[in-house]
Amino acid sequence: MRRWFRRSTSRNNGNRDKGNSGQGNGSKEKRDAKTEIEIKKNEIKKWNKEGGIMMKAKKLFAVILTGITAAGLLAGCGSAAGSQTQSTSGTEASTTEEAQSTSGTETSTAEAAQSTSDTEASTTEEAQSGKVLVVYYSATGNTGEVAGYIADAMDGDLFEVEPAEPYTDEDLNWTDDNSRVTREHEDESLRNVELVSTTVEDWDSYDTVFIGYPIWWGIAAWPMDTFVEANDFTGKTVIPFCTSASSGLGESGELLAELAGTGDWLEGERFRSGADEGDVQEWVEGLGL
Ligand SMILES: Cc1cc2nc3c(=O)[nH]c(=O)nc-3n(C[C@H](O)[C@H](O)[C@H](O)COP(=O)(O)O)c2cc1C
Repeated sequence: MRRWFRRSTSRNNGNRDKGNSGQGNGSKEKRDAKTEIEIKKNEIKKWNKEGGIMMKAKKLFAVILTGITAAGLLAGCGSAAGSQTQSTSGTEASTTEEAQSTSGTETSTAEAAQSTSDTEASTTEEAQSGKVLVVYYSATGNTGEVAGYIADAMDGDLFEVEPAEPYTDEDLNWTDDNSRVTREHEDESLRNVELVSTTVEDWDSYDTVFIGYPIWWGIAAWPMDTFVEANDFTGKTVIPFCTSASSGLGESGELLAELAGTGDWLEGERFRSGADEGDVQEWVEGLGL
């Protein structure tokens, strides 16, 4: 307003200068003065009017501004409310995610528990079933038959010990002083018999191992020595059995246990050559395995 007023004054001054520059006539000066007063009044009225308009404009502007501010505030509130709603929604989402996460953890825990349960069940099943292996050496077939009976009775697996150089009938002629078996009997250093294999597939999975052999001069046929020495019987129950013409088990089992150095060796059983399957089954059932 002040700036507008100054401009008006300046213009009035201009008029006044104009009036002062002239005529020196008294009535004219009065008229001019009167006119100037009128003009000034009109100017004042005009400025007042303008001022009023401006005031009205200001008021209107103020009202509009207030309205805009109010609207802005309302919008702000709305936005804040929206934000709060979003925030709440976000919190809910977060809570839901947490719940899902918790649920996932619970599922994971449940799965882990299930897995543990499965492992325990599996371990229990293995402990209850107890895989059985029947290892045997048989020069003329008698011990092999008994081994087959045991495997059938125990639902076990068979592993045949085979010398890399199989024994022929001449080799087995114990009445011949020069036969292979006689020479090996007389010279213990010759009993180190090489085998086709001493490795049993899934050896660690067997809990019970039957060890079968024929009796040679009162002890276990020595091809079995090589197998026993080559394997670890730790944690296994070992049950020796043999076939013979007349001799008993003797110390054959104990000697093999000494050679092995590991495993829980039981007393074992001797069967006659050409043993009856029923006798073998009866013995197996009597073991209580
Ligand atoms: C070299 C040799 C030594 C043997 N020594 C004995 C013995 O000391 N006592 C016995 O009762 N039978 C003896 N036998 C007989 C076998 O032990 C018997 O025939 C056994 O059932 C053979 O088993 P296999 O058929 O599985 O080889 C001997 C047989 C051989 C070949």
